[in-house]
Amino acid sequence: MNIVLLGAPGAGKGTQAQKLVADYGIAHISTGDLLRAAVKAATPLGLKAKKYMDAGELVPDQLVIDLVKERLGADDAQKGFILDGFPRNTVQAVTLDSELSDMGRELDCALLVDVAAEVIVNRLSSRRTCRDCGYTGTAADATCPKCGGEMYQRDDDKAETIQNRLDVYEKSTSPLIEYYRGQGILKSVDGDRPVDEVYTDVKEALNL
Ligand code: AP5
Repeated sequence: MNIVLLGAPGAGKGTQAQKLVADYGIAHISTGDLLRAAVKAATPLGLKAKKYMDAGELVPDQLVIDLVKERLGADDAQKGFILDGFPRNTVQAVTLDSELSDMGRELDCALLVDVAAEVIVNRLSSRRTCRDCGYTGTAADATCPKCGGEMYQRDDDKAETIQNRLDVYEKSTSPLIEYYRGQGILKSVDGDRPVDEVYTDVKEALNL
C-alpha cells in the first residue's frame, strides 16, 4: 500500500504513521525526520536545510525530491510506503506522480489528518521528541516512555516559528487536498480526537 499523509504541522501525521509502522511494518518516509537527521549529522544537505527549517519555511524542492527519490528506491519501500511530510506543494506532488509512474507504481491513498489551527498551536508548543529513538510525545513525558532517552523541543516548535509553518501550510500545501481529490484518492479523518480513536478511523480509511 502506497500512502501519502496530508495535514497541517502538528496534525498528528507522525503519530499515526508510527502506529501503522508498528502494526503493519510499512516503510515510513518522513522528510522532516530525514532532514533533521541530515542537520544533526551536519551533512552538506543538512547545512543547506537548517536555515529554512529553523524559519519554518520549506526546504528547496530539489533537495527534498532527491532525498525522497533515493528513499523510495530502498528495499524496505518496495512493498509499500507511508510518505509523511511529502509532497508539500504542487511541484513535489507532480514530481512524485512522475517518479512513481517511472517505477511502475502509484499512490493508493492520500489521507488527510484534519485538525483546526487553534488545536495545532497548543499541540506543537507542548510537543517533545526523543533524542535517541525519535519517539513523539508531549511536555508531560519527562523521559522517553519507549527507550528512556532525553526528550527535547524541536527548534521549529517555538511560538514564533509555529505561525509561519501554519501560513506556509495554508499557502503551499493545502492546495494538495484538491489535487488528490481530483485524482479520486483523497480520504480524510478527523484528527481532533484521542490518538487511538483517530487511528481506528485511519485503519478504516485505508481498509486495514
Ligand atoms: P515536518 O517534520 O514534516 O513537520 P510538519 O509537517 O510541520 O509536521 P510535524 O512533524 O510538526 O507534525 P505531525 O503532523 O507529524 O504531528 P505529530 O504526530 O508530531 O517538517 C519540518 C520542516 O522540515 C518543515 O517546516 C520544512 O522546513 C522541512 N520539510 C519537511 N518536509 C519538507 C518537504 N517535503 N519540502 C520542503 N521542506 C520540508 O504530533 C504533534 C503533537 O501532537 C505531538 O506532541 C503528539 O504527541 C500530539 N498529538 C498527535 N496526535 C494527537 C491527538 N490525536 N490528540 C492529542 N495530541 C496529539
